[in-house]
Amino acid sequence: MPATIIVGTQWGDEGKGRVVDFFAAQADVVARFNGGDNAGHTVVAEGHTLALHLIPSGILYPQALCLIGGGTVVNPLRLLEELAMLDAAGIPAGSDRLKIAAAAHIILPTHRALDGASEAQRGSQAIGTTKRGIGPTYADKARRIGLRAAQMRDPEQFAGAVRDLVATHNLWLKELYDLPPQDAGAIVDQLRAAAEKLAPYLVDGTAVIGQALANGAHLLCEGAQGALLDLDHGTYPFVTSSPPIAGGALTGLGFGPKEVTRVVGVTKAYTTRVGAGAFPTELLEATGERLRDVGHEYGVTTGRPRRCGWLDAVILRYTAQINGLTEVALTKLDVLSGLPELKIAVAYDLHGERREHFPVEWGNDTLAACKPVYETLPGWDADLTGIRARDALPAAARAYVDRIETLMGVPVTFIGVGPEREAMIIGR
Ligand code: IMP
Repeated sequence: MPATIIVGTQWGDEGKGRVVDFFAAQADVVARFNGGDNAGHTVVAEGHTLALHLIPSGILYPQALCLIGGGTVVNPLRLLEELAMLDAAGIPAGSDRLKIAAAAHIILPTHRALDGASEAQRGSQAIGTTKRGIGPTYADKARRIGLRAAQMRDPEQFAGAVRDLVATHNLWLKELYDLPPQDAGAIVDQLRAAAEKLAPYLVDGTAVIGQALANGAHLLCEGAQGALLDLDHGTYPFVTSSPPIAGGALTGLGFGPKEVTRVVGVTKAYTTRVGAGAFPTELLEATGERLRDVGHEYGVTTGRPRRCGWLDAVILRYTAQINGLTEVALTKLDVLSGLPELKIAVAYDLHGERREHFPVEWGNDTLAACKPVYETLPGWDADLTGIRARDALPAAARAYVDRIETLMGVPVTFIGVGPEREAMIIGR
């Protein structure tokens, strides 16, 4: 039975939570495959507004088993906070409902300190990370000195491994950044206690996935961040340290491409970015501010205002390719209501030459030199929030959606028309 992968097609914050929420209602297993608590989305459940960062949003659906997959990085202290938040909201999230893959890597407070120190040292070249320790944790994984969730099985041994790694990190903090050491004793105690609480959640992640697929279960793979933050195919170095693209679901969870039946690319009806790096269609004037205000474009994890701009079809064609999208979920179409006209970048002008392919491999300077070639479409003024059929959209909104489909070469099968859970047009 099928695996469905949900990914972001821009720089993250496309509104994946809503789309995942929709699919999770039918899923047997919902798994996060990349990143850590750098992600975040707000869900409203049982009258509570909850900000989930690491726990898959399937946790809101009692039939779904949730897995924090092997490709992720887990901050045990933050995970316990998230579990406490769910508990306070009366949402069951015990070890019968939530599993942590033993292969996931562990974020320590010193990883966070190193993230902040490295950003400060980069000065004007800072990446604008979420400072959650994501990069340093994946770096330790690649260096093969990282801690795996499996080690929490034995809290005493884990405490010893934490002590050793903290000692290494403290050395780096001193030698590389001239910073004081973190309190190793306190960290070890905190992490030992966390391991005791989290040990019952540990599983062999690939066994859970393999069993689920063999049983014909519906596996929903919940991507975090967006394709342009991919370590390999994103806007390097202004990227995250994991693969948020569809291939990341396969490596992060441990199954093959033949299981995948749907790859849903969540696409915001305009473009936003947090953190640094080139952004060809960025709007630095009133229209950008309007998009930020109307679209509430502020980070769930860091509260930072997001940079806003027109839709960029050069990006979307590229991210449709690298993800192998089978369909698009278009979000926040309603935010564009009231704008007299809309622009979509259909190509770039790079030093007088027309570019159709996103020239990301040539680096940030090349991207910064790209001038968007815009197509202008008429806007619409109607309130879209009550509309539930594509045919009922104003003609100009329909034309905008149709144009996106043509430019991406992928059908749009969901359209978000408002902040409410039900404010979606489903199907074509
Ligand atoms: P890191 O993932 O914290 O290392 O940050 C690296 C880059 O990814 C920065 O530009 C962050 O702003 C961006 N980033 C990380 N997570 C998210 C997310 O969930 N949404 C949007 N941007 C993100």
